[in-house]
Amino acid sequence: MINLGVNIDHIATIRQARGTSYPDPLDAVPICLEAGAGSITAHLREDRRHIQDHDIERLAAMDGLHLNMEMGATDEMVAICERLKPAACCLVPEKREELTTEGGLDVLAHQQRLADVVGRLSAAGVRVSMFIDPIEAQIRASHEIGAPVVELHTGHYANLSGEQQAVELAAIRAGAKLASEIGLVVHAGHGLTVENTPAICAIPEIEELNIGHAIVADALFKGLKQAVIDFRAVMTR
Ligand code: PXP
Repeated sequence: MINLGVNIDHIATIRQARGTSYPDPLDAVPICLEAGAGSITAHLREDRRHIQDHDIERLAAMDGLHLNMEMGATDEMVAICERLKPAACCLVPEKREELTTEGGLDVLAHQQRLADVVGRLSAAGVRVSMFIDPIEAQIRASHEIGAPVVELHTGHYANLSGEQQAVELAAIRAGAKLASEIGLVVHAGHGLTVENTPAICAIPEIEELNIGHAIVADALFKGLKQAVIDFRAVMTR
């Protein structure tokens, strides 16, 4: 069965918006696992806009949790990942000004640097994936530098519609097939919703999806009624 990794970044986004101690993204972990997630993903960004160091430290310390730490391939992040040794790490490109991860990693352009990072993290026992666009050269470069896993970027597919979306879906399908043929484990993620996920799941080589924003967004409306009911219940004299 395809694994679901739930990205809990945006629970932390709500907390950081007010500088409160709630909601604690760690409280989401047992709920996600109980509901069928197999792993938890969290992105420690350089600017700490959502997940904080204390979050990733506590996640890494959770017994038996399969943690996928998303991060840029910077010296700071590599040192944190080497120390915390999450089960998995997904290397992503990171720009301070972006709203979210905008494109795949350019493995071709940074082959030597990324080979070094993959080597260091693999030596620490972390399974490394490269977040890349479904482009043949990037898939082959990821394999050449020794990464065992690629996560194919579905963000462009998610943002397109009609014929253009069908073209991007075909590229993801072809990329997944190629990656699997050369021995890479294939994951996918970004921008996935209940509507656009089934077509991605139909790609047989894909073993894991990492989904965050839409799950947190859907949770608002699936949980809003109870939240109001609970406040009404305590508003008594
Ligand atoms: N995979 C990667 C590599 C990402 O950077 C993100 C966003 O943090 C996701 C998956 C999840 O994307 P979304 O929040 O749009 O579901």
